[in-house]
Amino acid sequence: MEEIVKTLPQHTSSWSKGRLTYCMYEGFWMTKRFHEGVTNLAQQSYKAQPNDVFLCSSPKTGTTWLKALALAIVTRNKFDESNSPLLRTTPHDFLRHLEVDPKQSEENQNSSFPLVATHLPYALLPKSVVTSTCKIVYIYRNIKDVVASHYHFEREKIKLSVEDAPFEEAFHEFCQGISNFGPYWDHILGYWKASLERPGTILFLKYEDLKRDPMSHVKTLAEFIGYPFSREEENAGVVENIINLCSFKNLSNLEVNKTGSFLALNTVVENRTFFRKATDGDWENYFTDEMKEKIDKLIYQKMSGTGLILT
Ligand code: A3P
Repeated sequence: MEEIVKTLPQHTSSWSKGRLTYCMYEGFWMTKRFHEGVTNLAQQSYKAQPNDVFLCSSPKTGTTWLKALALAIVTRNKFDESNSPLLRTTPHDFLRHLEVDPKQSEENQNSSFPLVATHLPYALLPKSVVTSTCKIVYIYRNIKDVVASHYHFEREKIKLSVEDAPFEEAFHEFCQGISNFGPYWDHILGYWKASLERPGTILFLKYEDLKRDPMSHVKTLAEFIGYPFSREEENAGVVENIINLCSFKNLSNLEVNKTGSFLALNTVVENRTFFRKATDGDWENYFTDEMKEKIDKLIYQKMSGTGLILT
């Protein structure tokens, strides 16, 4: 693996004091750890089951929230807000994440939960996923908040303070397309184009829309993945209970998410790093006017005519 990685284009983040290196694989940047997972996966050629539901996202766009919601939806006959596994485990540890642990994914293929998460770009999804009838849910988010969220997440991982990690450099790097599974816009467009070519198989959810109107989007999500709420459930408040269970306020205050950790790609990841602020517009605390102008132009170039809005 080391030998393969050496042959790939590499980039070490200027703001990371040499601690964060990406390599480019098939047009997408990914940290070396992830690259290993991705290529293992390709070799193992994951076999999707027709009932699988793929939860796809670029990092920092609401993956944790989507995983929690989907898990609560599909297991609601077994668990509720008093005994949900979400009270004891981070969704990242509980659900299969394809490239993080492909071996585990293979072993769990007959798991009673049909949910599989991935950050893989559409073009790198295992063939069996794109040729099967399994459902794909894709969550995306305002690019400016993703830039800020990505910076803090990676900075925390490499244990640098804000003072020691200049945001401006991280910003310019993101605009060059360099982020985990970036370019961010290419990641989104890959799924978007596929959703147009394969109508009905890919549900697009926008983080901000989910926040603005969780009730209708959670119902849409449940219906799309084949677990619609009945009238009785709606009347009994089951949808509200799931929304509350999976809310940022609730999950981020659970002991497991404040102090717990899990092992991914041989690295200990602290659960708290997935729960920062969850505020729309936090980017305004970091962007200068020039940065705002630059990213608005970039997004206009990349997204105009696609029908998707990333601002
Ligand atoms: P911020 O860094 O802006 O706070 P991902 O799960 O894809 O890694 O994305 C992490 C982002 O989602 C973080 O954003 C995090 O705070 C936010 N987040 C985590 N859990 C959430 C939840 N239950 N509801 C809404 N946002 C959540």
